[in-house]
Amino acid sequence: EPVRMKVRLVVNGTPHELNLDTRTSLLDALREHLHLTGTKKGCDHGQCGACTVLVDGVRINSCLTLAVMHEGDRVTTIEGLGTPERLHPMQAAFVRHDGYQCGYCTPGQICSAIAVLDEINEGIPSHVTERLDGAPELSADELRERMTGNVCRCGAYSNIVDAISEIAGSRA
Ligand code: FES
Ligand code: FES
Repeated sequence: EPVRMKVRLVVNGTPHELNLDTRTSLLDALREHLHLTGTKKGCDHGQCGACTVLVDGVRINSCLTLAVMHEGDRVTTIEGLGTPERLHPMQAAFVRHDGYQCGYCTPGQICSAIAVLDEINEGIPSHVTERLDGAPELSADELRERMTGNVCRCGAYSNIVDAISEIAGSRA
């Protein structure tokens, strides 16, 4: 017998109250209950990053977490970042640099990329930073390391790093 629970999520600024089977992942809550299909399901077990969203500004794989664990949290998906008429700067950079081919990984890449720049700004170390034993800097190696959780089966990696570098440069 499935157990159901109420959970309130603020998704892209809009409060929602859902009554969910407690086993529902945050990804399925977004896609199947809120019909926000911009967030993609690649592997459904934490290996591809296609499902990356921001929860209270921090990136997570939404397939790996239960929706009911996010009572009251603020979730941002690709739909909340920009629209075709008014792209988020990171979306515009992906377009300028051809940072995608099929586009399946792109919403996750963009959510991840936005969080990566915040992590670097906040001085949160990565493996590269730890090896260098210093503050994070905006090198291509640093960006590649931090983006390893986002797999692109089309191999658009170098263009993705170019897009993020451009935005990183304009923030620095
Ligand atoms: Fe979540 Fe692949 S769908 S990591
Ligand atoms: Fe096709 Fe990345 S653009 S998987």
